[in-house]
Amino acid sequence: MNKIYTLLLIAFGALTITNAASAQDISAEGATIYEEYCEACHQPGGEGFEDTYPPLKDNIFVNGDKEELIYLMLEGRAGMPTFIEDLEVEQLTTIVNYIRNSWGNASGDITQAEMDEAYDLIAEEDDGFGPGN
Ligand code: HEC
Repeated sequence: MNKIYTLLLIAFGALTITNAASAQDISAEGATIYEEYCEACHQPGGEGFEDTYPPLKDNIFVNGDKEELIYLMLEGRAGMPTFIEDLEVEQLTTIVNYIRNSWGNASGDITQAEMDEAYDLIAEEDDGFGPGN
């Protein structure tokens, strides 16, 4: 009997851990996207690189107006490419939420609806997606 209880407890423990892990899936995915698409320029830990690539950690722009950040991700700016061709719109939401909530940044989430709305607006514009539109 005791053995069964122990087994049950272990099983429950494992379930709880699994649930906790799936609650973190967004940031795990965010971390993966960051490593693959951002880190080469913005560096591990969002530290940035000299005067060339701005740090994303403790960055007023990253932690500031959501809409500006969403537009930057969709349109790019100067040396900052747009990732519209490489990432799904859901992944853009994930990466925005990742950089707003990593390395001590704690600026809350944007919603998929906010990203979709900006996407639709830009898609309708004549100049469309692309650096600095
Ligand atoms: C090829 C290098 C490169 C890559 C890759 C890159 N960036 Fe950038 N990023 C830049 C440069 C350069 C700037 C500064 C643009 C400017 O001067 O206006 C910038 C600016 C930014 C800014 C605005 C910072 C500010 O202070 O205005 C954010 C936010 C940002 N990048 C996020 C990202 C994210 C998220 C990714 C990955 C999806 C990424 N970047 C990938 C080069 C890059």
